[in-house]
Amino acid sequence: MTQKSIYLSLLLLLLISCSSKGEEESIYTPVPANLEIPELFQQKLIAPVIPTNNPLTEEGITLGKKLFFDPILSKDNTQSCASCHDPKNAFTDDTRFSEGIDGKFGTRNSMPLFNLAWNFDERFMWDGKELSIERQAFSPVRNPIEMHSDWKNVAKKLQEHAEYPTLFQRAYGTSKIDSTLVTKAIAQFERTLISGNSKFDQYLLGKVELTPEEQNGFNVFMDETRGDCFHCHGSDNNPLWTDNKFHNNGLDETFADIGLGAVTGDPNDNGKFRSPSLRNLKFTAPYMHDGRFATLEEVINHYSEGLKKSSTIDPLMKKANQGGVQLSDKDKADLKAFLLSLSDANFVNNPDFQQ
Ligand code: HEC
Ligand code: HEC
Repeated sequence: MTQKSIYLSLLLLLLISCSSKGEEESIYTPVPANLEIPELFQQKLIAPVIPTNNPLTEEGITLGKKLFFDPILSKDNTQSCASCHDPKNAFTDDTRFSEGIDGKFGTRNSMPLFNLAWNFDERFMWDGKELSIERQAFSPVRNPIEMHSDWKNVAKKLQEHAEYPTLFQRAYGTSKIDSTLVTKAIAQFERTLISGNSKFDQYLLGKVELTPEEQNGFNVFMDETRGDCFHCHGSDNNPLWTDNKFHNNGLDETFADIGLGAVTGDPNDNGKFRSPSLRNLKFTAPYMHDGRFATLEEVINHYSEGLKKSSTIDPLMKKANQGGVQLSDKDKADLKAFLLSLSDANFVNNPDFQQ
């Protein structure tokens, strides 16, 4: 070799090693991401729950979003998480019970997905049986009434896919795909689903006015002698619009589904379900754990005069002996108007959350 060619090949080597080093870094170092926390949440709530072993990164969120919308997670590649958690319905669906891939139906209404990182007790599902967002994401894939696959099969399909190995490499520094990394990525995406820009939020920030009907409806909601709703569903001081705790709100005398009782084994918990957030009701019908009410009128009539007594009914259902809080027609209509002011069209239309 001549002096010149040695010099050239050294230069080439240097160039190659430089470029591959640069690439490695961009592959192995995901970019940390921050949640966009709404102003009212910053004022009224403590920090969201983000596990130290699954910090948010741009690459993790991108991957989680792709997985969330991808039917590859189901056995016959027909159903994604979004099939039952559709962005346009605030990430629930519009049926009473959702249909799994084998045409089977469950007995619970799909839940909307937003502000999950502020469920501080980390008890997910209607009955609290799943103890983190990561852990929850394991179950739909193998649930026979949902995606009815198994994780070995899903990991294999993802591993053989043209894009996923690279995306896992970028997000987690390994192209070896397993259920733990899949559920971590999905959980990252789910934590970004934040809803905090309803008309009522804007009102609390002094940006818009309520109509007289909405204002009266809010008073009904807060007033212990009228609607008396705020105990379990939050208030202008709790922008989640739920306490995320478990109550029996008087739906039944006997329970087809015992809810929390099946999880704790304590009969005193029978008939208790987690209070749902009242945000985005405009998009989330039907209502209750079994989707029994198609409209907000039916929900309000339930609390007004339809309560059923049982041994575990919540003591906060104070007027259960009279059947409920007995609202006038005007207060019912205004309560509905107020509830709808908690709906957040900016959330359901957010381009970051569309497929
Ligand atoms: C066939 C319909 C269906 C599919 C598919 C489905 N879900 Fe669900 N999801 C439900 C139902 C129904 C519930 C409530 C079940 C219960 O309480 O027992 C639920 C509850 C949840 C919850 C709890 C929310 C909360 O506030 O506690 C999360 C999170 C969730 N699903 C995420 C997912 C993810 C992630 C996927 C995909 C891996 C998925 N779901 C696939 C129907 C579905
Ligand atoms: C003692 C606690 C408590 C009080 C007080 C209460 N709720 Fe509820 N609410 C719940 C629980 C728990 C559920 C879910 C019950 C179930 O599905 O089994 C629920 C469900 C709802 C739902 C259905 C939401 C959905 O996504 O399915 C609406 C709407 C609602 N409540 C509005 C109200 C209004 C309006 C008032 C006052 C008139 C009120 N609640 C008072 C605990 C309460």
